[in-house]
Amino acid sequence: MTTPSWDAAYAGNGPPPWDVGRPQPAFIRLAEQGLLAGQVLDAGCGTGEQTLLAASSGADALGVDVSPLALEQARGKAAARGIKARFEVADALSLGDLGMSFDTVIDSGLFHVFDDDNRARYVASLASVLRPGGHLYLMCFSDRQPGALGPRRVSQDELRAAFEVNVIAPIMTEPGGAAWRQTTYYPYLFASVYGRGDALQLSVKSPGYDSEVADNVPYLDIAGVHDEAGRTLTFFAVNRHESEALDLELDLQGFRKARIVDHQVMTNADLDAVNTLSAPLAVAPRKGSGGEVKDEQLTASLPPYSYQMLRVGLG
Ligand SMILES: C[S@@+](CC[C@H](N)C(=O)[O-])C[C@H]1O[C@@H](n2cnc3c(N)ncnc32)[C@H](O)[C@@H]1O
Repeated sequence: MTTPSWDAAYAGNGPPPWDVGRPQPAFIRLAEQGLLAGQVLDAGCGTGEQTLLAASSGADALGVDVSPLALEQARGKAAARGIKARFEVADALSLGDLGMSFDTVIDSGLFHVFDDDNRARYVASLASVLRPGGHLYLMCFSDRQPGALGPRRVSQDELRAAFEVNVIAPIMTEPGGAAWRQTTYYPYLFASVYGRGDALQLSVKSPGYDSEVADNVPYLDIAGVHDEAGRTLTFFAVNRHESEALDLELDLQGFRKARIVDHQVMTNADLDAVNTLSAPLAVAPRKGSGGEVKDEQLTASLPPYSYQMLRVGLG
């Protein structure tokens, strides 16, 4: 930990330059959209403006920081404003030590203080406390910020690299504006929330096609997991065929009393289709229909160019 130097930043007559004495507008917008809810962690909370915002929006909010002095001031603000929030000294590089998990983590100005090595440690530390399907909202100094004063600048590419593109790219934003989910958001969400348990070894027979890089590529791509505790099987399937539906027949081989409990389908004839601010649900999951399980055989029709998640309840 680097407590003394961070404490020094909070020991002066006035607040440190980043401490604007109120929540940052980007986080106010999240609160207004109801996105600061459930159990929220504010990593590197300083004097707690974002933590207090989350708490006053109804979240069970915890702010952590390495600076005891900053936390003392945060607790003072909470008491003065009559807001119930908790503040603890903790190192954001080892959040797992808290022994807790969170629906949402917010970071206002912490990510950009870390060097490359600690950046990787921080990302791993965040992953250790964020629940499946949880969200991280991070605000840092942008490389588009002119001048050299202030912390290290961070580019979008660096952010993508740090979080491995799939973690952050699915949510799109525009400066000062709204946020919407990109098409890739949903498969990642489904895999993250439901892709839990033992991977099933599936033996797949599918018609195929020859492509520029490989021959006999199966039209069907499918993966499945068995969640014993949750008594479910979940299948993620893609039909790569441009114009024809695929009839899926799955032999459930001993998984008895099975029934389809959820079938979500995403499809669009245009593989380059995207969601936009004006059409945020152009490519989004819709309820699938027509699938059934009979005599341990699951059947469903997979539309052309489609992704689907099929969940099967057991017993
Ligand atoms: C730029 S300030 C941002 C503070 C606050 N989030 C805000 O928006 O006002 C960065 C904060 O991260 C804290 N910090 C630095 N390294 C940390 C670490 N390893 N773990 C937890 N907090 C840390 C500092 O004490 C400081 O309060």
